[in-house]
Amino acid sequence: MQNFIFHNPTKVAFGKDSIQQLGSLLPANSKILLLYGGGSIKNNGVYQQVTDQLKGHQWSEFAGIEANPEFTTLMKAVEIVKQQNIDYLLAVGGGSVVDGSKFIAAAANFEGDPWDILAKGATVESAIPIGCVLTLPATGSETNTASVINRSEMGKKLSFMSEQVRPQFAVLDPQVTYSLPDRQLANGVVDAFVHVMEQYLTYPVNATVQDRFAEGLLQNLIELGPKVFEPENYEVRANLMWNATQALNGLIGAGVPQDWATHQIGHELTALYGLDHAVTLAIVLPQLMRHQRSAKRDKLIQFAQRVWHLDTSDEDKAIDQAIEKTEAFFQQMGMKTYLHEHNVDDSVIRLVPRKLMENGVMKLGERGDMTPKDAELIIKAAL
Ligand code: NZQ
Ligand code: ZN
Repeated sequence: MQNFIFHNPTKVAFGKDSIQQLGSLLPANSKILLLYGGGSIKNNGVYQQVTDQLKGHQWSEFAGIEANPEFTTLMKAVEIVKQQNIDYLLAVGGGSVVDGSKFIAAAANFEGDPWDILAKGATVESAIPIGCVLTLPATGSETNTASVINRSEMGKKLSFMSEQVRPQFAVLDPQVTYSLPDRQLANGVVDAFVHVMEQYLTYPVNATVQDRFAEGLLQNLIELGPKVFEPENYEVRANLMWNATQALNGLIGAGVPQDWATHQIGHELTALYGLDHAVTLAIVLPQLMRHQRSAKRDKLIQFAQRVWHLDTSDEDKAIDQAIEKTEAFFQQMGMKTYLHEHNVDDSVIRLVPRKLMENGVMKLGERGDMTPKDAELIIKAAL
């Protein structure tokens, strides 16, 4: 196992009606900006529950953070934060609203052009504190340090990470997921699955705890997957929600090599074609597993045996079957796993590596030995 520091101080209030704890989680005497997306929280009662909790607090609101949050929209919120001397952000929504709020929090305190945080990796020295009410289990953004921001006029989707923007608290009430459309439920399962895979499917470092946790999370998602479409099944939604948080809260990634190539390639596909984040992952991961089958051989065999319970006496056959089963699982969740099924033409083969290079992504994978050329081959296979 590699050395690590693990520190995840986000306070999680989990369970039925946990939004009722929001009032006491928010700091008294602060000026709060409530941030949300396109209005789903107004239709499902979450807005009402949240604003009930804001009584007695000083607050205002900013609506309209898009899925794949837009830099220009977020900069408008930064202006409001500055004008109104906001000192606490309350994000209510899915990963996009939480990520967008993280960027606003960092940009409001940043000296210089906030775009540099994303484009140049400028250090975030400080940020406005954030709390969140999560409405879509998927990204893990509710307790982690990452944020992914879109700037569509430049065709760029870029990320940053900073301890400064980790939410101070996350309210997770599985009941708020009842209003999610099937497409977003499927996105959540696939995104969480791929997050675990990218911290697990690398090479063995004898991190037996992390491996067993990761395998448990994967098996749980495989079991839960088909059931998440059942309306108002509290137990299923609760387990999905906690699974998605655990998939990217730093725990299973501590002390192990990681491979975020599927996400890096996937972000370019979203930037180019506007495909949902998880949709891109369902397309890229199976082909990346095939492309990297030698580099990932030991872990692929372990994955085949422990997650899919396959007979590994013929190792190559077991690897093939494990990849096929993974792809079939995504399809079972309603995902199309090839680009042509989304009407993407073969110019994608040239565009993705070019965009990776433009963004300075020259080394990918757990050993940093994959290049944009490898991404090209993966995309070609995924067409
Ligand atoms: O905008 P509203 O009206 O809220 O509607 C949203 C949006 O249209 C809707 N929605 C959310 N909760 C709902 C609901 N509809 C009905 N009922 C509810 N309870 O769902 C749509 C999608 O929301 P979005 O927040 O975009 O989805 P998700 O949570 O999947 O977030 C995706 C974003 O997170 C980034 C992705 O790249 C993408 O931009 N990621 C962030 C990560 C992180 N911070 O660690 C890691 C991930 O790998 C990912 O990259
Ligand atoms: Zn993701």
